[in-house]
Amino acid sequence: MQRHAAFVMFITFEGIEGAGKTTQIKRLSIHLQQKGENCIITREPGGTAIGAKIRAILLDPASGDLAPEAELLLYLADRAQHIKQVIQPYLKAGNAVLCDRFYDATMVYQGFARGLNPSLIRQLHQIMSIDLRPDITLLLDLAPQEGLRRAWAELKKGSRVGCESRFEEETLAFHEKVRAGYLKLAHQEPHRFCVVDAQVDEEQVHQQIIQTLDEWQR
Ligand code: TMP
Repeated sequence: MQRHAAFVMFITFEGIEGAGKTTQIKRLSIHLQQKGENCIITREPGGTAIGAKIRAILLDPASGDLAPEAELLLYLADRAQHIKQVIQPYLKAGNAVLCDRFYDATMVYQGFARGLNPSLIRQLHQIMSIDLRPDITLLLDLAPQEGLRRAWAELKKGSRVGCESRFEEETLAFHEKVRAGYLKLAHQEPHRFCVVDAQVDEEQVHQQIIQTLDEWQR
């Protein structure tokens, strides 16, 4: 990882289903607030009121016949609204923004896994002027079998709003492509990505994240 003097402002969390992003993002936010940093937690899809409606379409298993191109455009619509309404205003006001998924998820899920052309995705981002880049991306990496086991356990507990299992219902091969896609992106951009071992317990994952950010700031 590269070392930076200034505090990291825009931090994204990525990973396959069940990697523990939601838990870890909350823990990091508490840690940063204890250190006196102002930060907010947000997510994609669904970081705005409009985005919540888009999220419901995207994650509903009843949207099984959604065309990959339509899926892509819905994620981009969610992101355009999210950047304008949440991410940019909070960054401008001097807050750290902790975001559960961002642009890399589109490259991986719609690009690597669904097979849409990655240069089409990049072009669409450019056309929409979505040139915002995270300062650091924490990739929570674990085996898809374990991730899916955890994700289904959460869904069955009813801890996720509504019916959001469309991606969990994808094949293991799909999730393996997602994981491989993320690792490829991390390899291509080692200065931005930090790969965190998410196979270990919650506390150990949290400690890896804190250590990474501390090193980044030193
Ligand atoms: P999550 O909020 O529980 O992580 O679920 C979001 C789902 O949406 C997850 O399966 C990954 C998927 N996704 C995409 O396919 N493309 C994207 O651009 C984003 C942000 C998420």
